[in-house]
Amino acid sequence: MLFLFSISAAQSQTSLESKLEALQCHFTWDLDPSKSILLRRKEKFEDIGTEEGNSWLGHIYNLRGFVQYKLGFTEDAQSFFNKAAEAFRKIRNADEGPWLVVNYGNLAWLHHHLGDQAESQAYLSKVDALMNKYPSPSQDQLHPEIYAEKAWTLMKFSREQKKRAADYFQRAIRMQPDMVEWNTSYVLGLEGSVQYKKKVEADLLEKMRIAKEQDPENLYLAVHYLHQCAQNGERIEEEARELARKVLKNPVSSYSGIKPLLKVYSYYVSIDVAIDLIEEALKTHPDERYLKRCAALCYKWKIIYVSDSRPNPSVIDRAISLHKEVIALYPHSFLMKKIDLANIYAQLNYGQAEAEQIYQELLESDLEPADKQMVYYCYAKHLYLYCRDYQRSIQYHMKVAAIPHQSSYRWNSITTLKKIRDRGSHMCREIEEFLENLQEP
Ligand SMILES: *[C@@H]1O[C@H](CO)[C@@H](O)[C@H](O)[C@H]1NC(C)=O
Repeated sequence: MLFLFSISAAQSQTSLESKLEALQCHFTWDLDPSKSILLRRKEKFEDIGTEEGNSWLGHIYNLRGFVQYKLGFTEDAQSFFNKAAEAFRKIRNADEGPWLVVNYGNLAWLHHHLGDQAESQAYLSKVDALMNKYPSPSQDQLHPEIYAEKAWTLMKFSREQKKRAADYFQRAIRMQPDMVEWNTSYVLGLEGSVQYKKKVEADLLEKMRIAKEQDPENLYLAVHYLHQCAQNGERIEEEARELARKVLKNPVSSYSGIKPLLKVYSYYVSIDVAIDLIEEALKTHPDERYLKRCAALCYKWKIIYVSDSRPNPSVIDRAISLHKEVIALYPHSFLMKKIDLANIYAQLNYGQAEAEQIYQELLESDLEPADKQMVYYCYAKHLYLYCRDYQRSIQYHMKVAAIPHQSSYRWNSITTLKKIRDRGSHMCREIEEFLENLQEP
């Protein structure tokens, strides 16, 4: 009897697991980043506003719940998933609907991992019930609500997934064309997958224009559209000022449009106007870490890229103190900010020792290979530009290349090494040998 019981218990365990595997939710979408990337994503997602009326609020909470689960905070995960269900209720103005399939799927997984198989099974049954009650309009396709959530999630998770995300959005929109925010995110995803700084095609520009007309409240989209118009040589000052006025009135969020607006100002108007804008925003919200991050970025641009005149000491002080604050406010996403700070110091006559100290600290810290590669690369450039230590610079480019991780840093370092070799430097034999023995990742 006991024997039979345990076989059937094992069988039901297997069938539970295969049912879980078949769910559409964050746990089955191959979102499996390293710990350090997860921690950075967590901080990034915290900066997406959670103000009432955000039509992605349910998706935001589902995503944050999943990240908390991955980081080992199961209670937080549960509370985020509950918040997601509540947000969907308000936004969709209904107690249930196909938008809960992903949420219930996440809960089924969470309870399974917590060892509560009965509760897990209960959520699986809820998913089944929803799928039966709200079948997809297209037989061999997922429900458009699921495609849309999957698309949005992939877009938020990684830059590389933007093309796949656009495809999912397209399917969702084909089946359910009346969701304004899907159209908006779709075109933003398309724009985001166009290579940085390149102009988008006329066809996409037109798509953006139409989406903007349909979704006039979305300032993030409006600013991105403005950026494209500026790229096409249109004058944009007037419109930018108008948008700035609106952005400043809205709640702080990484999708409020402020960051792309600062970029538009600094590229096409002037970096000082960008700085005035972010300082004004900070006056209204002095404790918002996201705004401090944006401000640090503006000051970095001013000091590092706009070197028409020597920045005055008060600008430098502000830049340094903002960077230090931001590094403390983002305990997991500070790497690039530390490098920025080192680069700011390096620009100053008296800052060489500080720059060197920051780099030494980073070089000695325990980093994942991809991060290590970035630090080596930045240090190689630093040695070349500010220390004129060409030999060590070459050594660091070699360290970059030796890490078997495909990235633009690796590509740049290998290209640099080849150039130095071809120029016939005294190290060209050594470089040649190094390149010959290099393993492809
Ligand atoms: C979304 O885009 C589709 C396809 O381009 C279009 O048919 C539909 O009208 C748009 N929906 C809204 C609400 O703008």
